[in-house]
Amino acid sequence: MLDQRGRDINYMRVSITDKCNLRCRYCMPEGVDILPMSDLLTFEEIRAVCRQASLLRINRIKITGGEPLARRGVAELVSMLRDLPGIDQITMTSNGVLLSKYLPDLKKAGLDGINISLDTLDRENYRRITGRDHLDEVLKGLDQALDSGIRVKINTVLMKGVNDREWPDLLALAKTKKLDVRMIELMPIGSGKTFEGISNEDLIRRLKDRFPDMALDQRIHGNGPAVYYQIPGWKGSIGLISPVHGKFCDKCNRIRMSATGELKPCLCYAPVANIRDLLRSQGEEAVAKVLKKIIYEKPEAHCFGRIEEITEDKQMIAIGG
Ligand code: 5AD
Ligand code: SF4
Repeated sequence: MLDQRGRDINYMRVSITDKCNLRCRYCMPEGVDILPMSDLLTFEEIRAVCRQASLLRINRIKITGGEPLARRGVAELVSMLRDLPGIDQITMTSNGVLLSKYLPDLKKAGLDGINISLDTLDRENYRRITGRDHLDEVLKGLDQALDSGIRVKINTVLMKGVNDREWPDLLALAKTKKLDVRMIELMPIGSGKTFEGISNEDLIRRLKDRFPDMALDQRIHGNGPAVYYQIPGWKGSIGLISPVHGKFCDKCNRIRMSATGELKPCLCYAPVANIRDLLRSQGEEAVAKVLKKIIYEKPEAHCFGRIEEITEDKQMIAIGG
């Protein structure tokens, strides 16, 4: 449905767990508490909210976490959402560690695409950033996903002094593999505030120097704000997502729901409602009213440029990216 500023909100990011099998330093530092299972929406409850969202013409769902594959039975959720008549596309954001294990089930359930978060191709640096030694599993899952025909995108966050020299290697994945590699600017949320990101304005200059034939790719690749480029001869495209330096709020099409049912119309601000108890006490029609209100009243823009106005104090792990 349209919000009060005329933006068509057709996409919902649904977090299904705050657990993760990695500990990326900018997202979930060691020592973060995990919620009890009873606080989380059940798959049936998630479906009920998605059904009501679909009646408001949200037709695309992204399943996020934490790490969504860390919650048992995700493929079952994918097929439950597949069965909703108004939902046209179901995708997932994952760190890829468990992908090869669950891929056959996800494929069967009808997952349309997977975004794999990957900030380095260097095993030692992977261990430093994520706290775990799982790079090989991720790369295996990535190749298997490509072979299975599921659409694959890579999400990379560059941080100064951590992995900012690795962009050429990461982007080169799109040279030989049919996938998009997207560089996402680090946002000042949670532990993200303690790292320094790279401006995509700088990156694009360096990219143009290195690849003078690079051209804007006008095709639509997904749900969101990435600007894509193609390099002649490359199998995949390069995407830049620039929430900080290239504010795209006027085209924002999304809302978010946390694993506990908190609704978040803008990344920058604390959730505006929690529908879990309402759903449990009054049923899904009551949820529809809240969804309608929060979509209509979606904030005009984020405030990453004015850090003191950010009211979201959670870690990204609890938000789902
Ligand atoms: N800024 C930008 N992206 C982030 N992610 C986690 N924290 C941040 C941040 N502060 C990304 C992860 C993953 C996705 C779920 O969100 O790298 O790709
Ligand atoms: Fe887990 Fe992704 Fe956060 Fe890393 S960035 S801790 S993989 S949710």
